Amino acid sequence: MNDRNAFHSLLAFWADAGVDHLYESASRDRMADQQDSRPALRAVAAAPALSSQTVDSAGGRELAWAAADLEALAAAIAAYDGCALKTQGARQAVCWRGAPDAPVMVVGEGPGADEDARGAPFVGRAGQLLDRMLVAAGLEGRVLITNTVFWRPPGNRTPSPDEQLACAPFLERAIDLVRPKLLLFVGAAAAKSLLDRSEGILALRGRWFEWRGRYSDLEIPALPTLHPAFLLRQPSAKKKAWQDLLTLAERLDRGDRPSEGGSV
Ligand code: URA
Repeated sequence: MNDRNAFHSLLAFWADAGVDHLYESASRDRMADQQDSRPALRAVAAAPALSSQTVDSAGGRELAWAAADLEALAAAIAAYDGCALKTQGARQAVCWRGAPDAPVMVVGEGPGADEDARGAPFVGRAGQLLDRMLVAAGLEGRVLITNTVFWRPPGNRTPSPDEQLACAPFLERAIDLVRPKLLLFVGAAAAKSLLDRSEGILALRGRWFEWRGRYSDLEIPALPTLHPAFLLRQPSAKKKAWQDLLTLAERLDRGDRPSEGGSV
């Protein structure tokens, strides 16, 4: 095979795996690269980079808390430029779906290709499995479903901590507006970032934690569980996720509060 054919076959392989864009993980300061000799450009290039953390603390919280309801918050997210994912091939912001006064909020990792195309979270195969499980656990119509980031990461990669941080004020404001009784974090990327834990999801799942707001004094019991995309790949793990959903539904119906980190 010549180099050209090998290259095309490699691209086709990555496209099949869902990798349809290539980006560097951090934005690059082209002005600094150029080492421009003009003093004004040198001064701008030397200024501290506007990282997503700076954007987050400078603007995200204010924008998010200026929104009086979920509709205004969705509009604020769509207009927000502080998350690098927005310019990495995503078609639109994907915010949430479900009941605006839901007693449970489900938080996943980030939109995939189906969600990016349709503008709603968890609408692909993994989302259909999640819906079936929620219905079977008696949670139909009692959840609002969202993600840690609101734009599709290219190639469905895991969102970076910076990207999650840039979206965090909007996620927290959504939680603040909905005021759910319980939170369900699906998958490692959501559980680890929202609970600030380093263990893997198999160690975190099925245990109650107290989620604490970063920008507000909200405190809500949270249960990590396995991601439905993982369950599609590993059906034998469904039993564990099912146990977690029953635990959540039971606590919701009982309305009590077991202690933090307690196993179920
Ligand atoms: N996986 C997620 O974590 N979120 C979605 O919205 C879809 C798939």
